[in-house]
Amino acid sequence: MPRADGATILEIEELQIGIRGADGGIQPIVGAMSLSIQAGERVALVGESGCGKTLTALACLGITPPPLLVTGGRVLVDGHELAQIPAAGLQQVRGGTVGLVFQEPVGALNPVFSVGFQVVETIRSHGAESRQQARQERDDLFERVGLVPARELSRAYPHQLSGGQLQRAMLAIALAGHPRLLIADEPTTALDLTTQARILELIRSLSEEEGLALLLITHDLAVVAALVERVAVMFAGEVVELAPTRALLAEPLHPYTRELLAAVSRSPSTAGGPSSEMESVPAAAATRARSDGCRFAPRCPLVRTTCRQARQPLQDAGAGHLVRCPVVVARHDR
Ligand SMILES: Nc1ncnc2c1ncn2[C@@H]1O[C@H](COP(=O)(O)OP(=O)(O)OP(=O)(O)O)[C@@H](O)[C@H]1O
Ligand code: SF4
Ligand SMILES: [Mg+2]
Repeated sequence: MPRADGATILEIEELQIGIRGADGGIQPIVGAMSLSIQAGERVALVGESGCGKTLTALACLGITPPPLLVTGGRVLVDGHELAQIPAAGLQQVRGGTVGLVFQEPVGALNPVFSVGFQVVETIRSHGAESRQQARQERDDLFERVGLVPARELSRAYPHQLSGGQLQRAMLAIALAGHPRLLIADEPTTALDLTTQARILELIRSLSEEEGLALLLITHDLAVVAALVERVAVMFAGEVVELAPTRALLAEPLHPYTRELLAAVSRSPSTAGGPSSEMESVPAAAATRARSDGCRFAPRCPLVRTTCRQARQPLQDAGAGHLVRCPVVVARHDR
């Protein structure tokens, strides 16, 4: 649950991310993305491949390498606007206030240093008093994420680890700075079910006991159902539905969310429960509208002429359920 002080640890306000083309023009990718997370709160960001989840996560740490660029909006971490934080302060945010588990751990780890060294360096740069204390913390962290035997695996280089071990090494580095917010981009995809359960339990206990907030990016609805309190559904670069987890899974309102959940329940890998992949949904890039109207209009079974004329705001459908579709909000109100 969010901590009683209600402090907002992450505030994404109308964030826009684009890509600069060879002709100098900017093609929008993420448009007007908004989301806030309170201290200790666990929130999932879901949506089909290419809708902008990873770019949003990276922008939360000020990482938008060219040709990508932030073209509008702002991100506040612990009340401080990211764009106003000087470079030295940004280093404190990255790995300090915010820990990040990248979707692709191979590129995120330095290949020339052992993973144990990289964890120790992160612990040292965020407050450990001595190298010996940092090594002890490293061993504890390795144990907690299931990288055992800790001493042996800490001497390994990234190329010597399996995909699942790399994911856990990334998590160890992300937690090494005692972050207040963990942004985890598909953190359990390469893990067996037992290890996945262990990692999810670790995140839950850090959240409940130490107030760690979580932004979890995932395609796995079983993980969503088990771990997070709220879910943001993203389509073509913007949040189209935001709701408490149980409400969203039980009664999705936005036509896109319904399509997404229906695709999951049709998937052969999901027989028996709300689990697994959302990849069977057609790519967002194909339908990313550039007009002011609803971006889902080309695929929507409920589309009206008015849907294509103006951008739809997120509207309150009651009980903390926000949806970017006036048609379903009107039906829901009846
Ligand atoms: N470095 C880049 N250069 C150009 N385009 C990019 C770059 N990174 C991402 N994109 C494009 O931006 C869009 C959003 O990408 P993003 O990685 O955020 O998607 P995603 O929602 O995380 O998808 P997935 O679920 O597959 O990880 C995609 O269409 C992608 O092709
Ligand atoms: S606004 Fe219109 S097109 Fe968009 S999801 Fe709602 S009904 Fe469909
Ligand atoms: Mg991604």
